[in-house]
Amino acid sequence: MKVTLSVIKADVGSIGGHTKPSDRMMDAVRSEVSNAVSGGLLIDAYVSHTGDDIAMVMSHTHGENNSEVHQFCWDAFIKATGVAKEYGLYGAGQDLLVDAPSGNVRGAGPAVAEIEWDHTLESPRPAESFLVLAADKCGPGAYNLPIFLGFADPMYCGGLMLPQMIKGFTFTVIDMENTEADSVIELNAPEDVYHLAALLRDNERFGIDSIHSRTHEEKAVAISAQRLHSIAGTYTGKDDPIALVRNQGIFPAPEELTSPFAKVHYVGGDARGSHVMPLMPVPINTAVTGIYCLPIVSCVGFSMAADGSFSDSVVDFFDNPTWDVIRNRAQEKGIEMRSQGWSGAAMLPYTELEYGGFRDTVGGLLDRFSFRD
Ligand code: 13P
Ligand code: MG
Ligand code: MG
Repeated sequence: MKVTLSVIKADVGSIGGHTKPSDRMMDAVRSEVSNAVSGGLLIDAYVSHTGDDIAMVMSHTHGENNSEVHQFCWDAFIKATGVAKEYGLYGAGQDLLVDAPSGNVRGAGPAVAEIEWDHTLESPRPAESFLVLAADKCGPGAYNLPIFLGFADPMYCGGLMLPQMIKGFTFTVIDMENTEADSVIELNAPEDVYHLAALLRDNERFGIDSIHSRTHEEKAVAISAQRLHSIAGTYTGKDDPIALVRNQGIFPAPEELTSPFAKVHYVGGDARGSHVMPLMPVPINTAVTGIYCLPIVSCVGFSMAADGSFSDSVVDFFDNPTWDVIRNRAQEKGIEMRSQGWSGAAMLPYTELEYGGFRDTVGGLLDRFSFRD
């Protein structure tokens, strides 16, 4: 049977500032999801939060971009927004950028990543396992470097030297500047890796949209690469991308995919979505309370049974002492960057800031410039 995995997340309100959703909001979404499972719309679902973003991981048979599934998610976020409003929480409904989505929440604010596949549990996928990555306080290209390394660099993914992966992967890269329609390019690793790097170095404009195996007709990765300010025309909140990554066998193993996150590379985001700070791997359901925010990323692993339901429990990859030393490094890198405050590389370039109030401040000053005699 064909199974679709949909991960849809949004920030619809949080406690004490932009930290995490309240328990009542989480309960509201969980109750909607359990109705959707018992009503037959979904096969299975898992609800979590990363910082202030609520993510729903759902399996079903309706295909990608299904209007019923998308509408269900929108309605669940509306319910949680209602709770956030009732209790006076911060940013109630923040990521719901339109009044009503036209059957698809992609482009309406929530982050969406979906993959459909033929779920036979036979070769080349005798077992189906996947990771869900969720990032908070992050720009849209936060996964560009780590996912590139996991799928295109044998220094991180030794499995690329094996027969099932040696032909490499096709990367679909999206130009997020273009909001009229999806503007994409396909580039093959390994032969196009320099071209890929030339695009993916720009985390604010170009993002990995999806990755396919070149050996098997299988989609390995889907990422919600979109810029909220391009949709809203102004700064409403950070893009906080999610990623769905199938693993093992014909795809990289979890350790090959997670080890690039030990870099704690600098990404755009952080406080007011305007700074450059390291991406810290954290356990699922972590609140953002770090020094000057700190962008965070969670990674949860699932297996899928023949009927499309999830394993009875999930594995939380970054909830392991091995990542403590990495978290310390992230904090040290963060403190180092913060020591230069607003200067140069510590903040995003003006082209990114111009969507927010910084534009008004700088614009007002630009008007006062005049030529000296
Ligand atoms: P969120 O998108 O997570 O709400 O972050 C926005 C922000 O501006 C943080 O300071
Ligand atoms: Mg928020
Ligand atoms: Mg957020």
